[in-house]
Amino acid sequence: MDRIEINKAKRFKGEFSPPPDKSISHRAVILSSLSKGKSVVRNLLKAEDPVSTINAFRALGVEIDDRGEEVIVHGKGIHGLTEPTDVIDCGNSGTTIRMLSGVLSGNPFFSVLTGDESLRKRPMARVINPLKEMGARISARAEDRYPPVAIIGGKLWPVEYSMPVASAQVKSALLLAGLYAEGQTEIREPVKSRDHTERMLPAFGAKITTEGLCVRIKGGVELTGTDIHVAGDFSSAAFFIVGALLIRNSDITIRNVGINPTRTGLLGALEKMGAKVEMSNIRHLSGEPVADIHCRGDAVLRAVEIKKDEIPALIDEFPVLCVAATQAEGITTIRGAGELRVKESDRIKSMATELRKMGADIEEFEDGLSIKGRSSLRGAEVESHGDHRIAMAMAIAGLIAEGTTVLHGVGAVNISFPGFFEIVGRMSS
Ligand code: S3P
Repeated sequence: MDRIEINKAKRFKGEFSPPPDKSISHRAVILSSLSKGKSVVRNLLKAEDPVSTINAFRALGVEIDDRGEEVIVHGKGIHGLTEPTDVIDCGNSGTTIRMLSGVLSGNPFFSVLTGDESLRKRPMARVINPLKEMGARISARAEDRYPPVAIIGGKLWPVEYSMPVASAQVKSALLLAGLYAEGQTEIREPVKSRDHTERMLPAFGAKITTEGLCVRIKGGVELTGTDIHVAGDFSSAAFFIVGALLIRNSDITIRNVGINPTRTGLLGALEKMGAKVEMSNIRHLSGEPVADIHCRGDAVLRAVEIKKDEIPALIDEFPVLCVAATQAEGITTIRGAGELRVKESDRIKSMATELRKMGADIEEFEDGLSIKGRSSLRGAEVESHGDHRIAMAMAIAGLIAEGTTVLHGVGAVNISFPGFFEIVGRMSS
């Protein structure tokens, strides 16, 4: 059954490592597939989203050998992919469909990318328009707005492109297309988004430089296979960080968590709210900073104001930040976050709707919301909207609510965090 009952937890205690980072896992599969020779990827996330990327590259002729702890990718080089014999199903994964659009635009064959009902509502013009400027023959449903996407790949030329929206998926798609364009492609973003692609590309031999908000990549350079060890996913750890802060007497350690500053905006927000999250054992794993994170349930939270420029670094933590805001004294406002309406679900509406069912006091705006705390949440029948991060955020809300919460659509957690409920069960009492 796709539902689970959640009761109020007395505390969160213990330690665990979060699943491998979803964003880094996609990039490890993509870049190793586009490299010549063998790459070994350790700690690759085997959840539904990155599996969509693995299956896509298998359909493009890349041999990917899953040996459990290690995944061996026998890369074909940037010009070695072969025409798929069927439509490529990207499932629920926006990262897969957008990054592949960039790759396939430079490959001289016909391909079609599609996905599930939610993915077929995700905006694609943001990738298709700049790819067309690079000479790509690419189109999509509803005047290039939504998947399916059809591509007849071919020669690309470099561009200088200023992105209207801060999006790591778009930036990465254009960097990948830039690999196929003779000369230098320059991409400028309005606010810094996650930079995993820029960090990983040099390890495969790409010529890429970053200067502030501007990234430049040289085309026509062959990539060479290498080994990658994927860090733990901060976005998955985030549910437990907030859970531990909100559940009295909690004391948890989360090991091997990626703390790339383009991802950890939630920590800054929580600090402003008065929470203390400690880090130790800071080190590097394949170009990414990692740490162990400790937090305790002794925080007295106050409201915070989150503005547009802060959104990219906490974009995926919005749902769980909303849960924290229900327990903070005062009115928390999150604005300039319209992008959240075009994620796996409309995350502004999903969180406002579901938290209200539990007694939260929320006002919704086109580009965000405000939450008046503190509210005593009470158990209710709530819904994931088929969105993994809504499912996990509402589970945390259930752990702090009086009575029983029935959460529907829990299967969505398999997109990024299979085993989420087992860890919740092990950590809570
Ligand atoms: C991602 C980028 C972000 C993020 C998504 C993963 C990535 O999306 O929300 O979960 O791996 O590049 P946008 O690029 O749409 O902001």
